[in-house]
Amino acid sequence: MPLPVPGPRAAVPAVPAVEVRGVVEHGDARGRLLGFPTANVTLTGSGPADGVWAGTVQVDPAHDGPVHVAAVSVGRRPTYYADGERLLEAHLLDVAVDLYDREVLVTLHRHLRPQLAFPGPAELVEQVQRDVAATRAWAGAWTGAAVG
Ligand SMILES: Cc1cc2nc3c(=O)[nH]c(=O)nc-3n(C[C@H](O)[C@H](O)[C@H](O)COP(=O)(O)O)c2cc1C
Repeated sequence: MPLPVPGPRAAVPAVPAVEVRGVVEHGDARGRLLGFPTANVTLTGSGPADGVWAGTVQVDPAHDGPVHVAAVSVGRRPTYYADGERLLEAHLLDVAVDLYDREVLVTLHRHLRPQLAFPGPAELVEQVQRDVAATRAWAGAWTGAAVG
């Protein structure tokens, strides 16, 4: 769901948001199987710190595209890889849009937790559901309206 343009951002703590621009790439589609499809963006340089964030994804920012709320993971997916590639993966809430090869602006607003190695996919999925709930709560405060 595209967000309404937010009003004054009084509810947002005074922590500077981190922005990442990039083109959405094809991942290995495991996220779709797990029930949370992700848009993957390769990180260049040091990029943002590893962790899981509440944030937004703007599609086609050069042309003022729609902004979606997203739970965003930055890191090496330690549940699956001993030393994986560092990736940014954004799970958009409540929308199914094909973002492959699209330009996006990802804004990381609130750090929720560190990247963790879970015993298996079930535990990871449970935690991602909590991340989505935390992101939804953040978005409600951010826009002044409940999301979803
Ligand atoms: C909100 C969110 C939180 C995540 N947290 C972790 C994590 O703590 N540890 C981890 O190994 N992977 C984490 N991931 C990454 C998943 O392992 C990854 O999205 C999944 O394996 C699908 O990968 P794929 O898109 O390359 O198919 C997270 C992903 C999302 C969207």
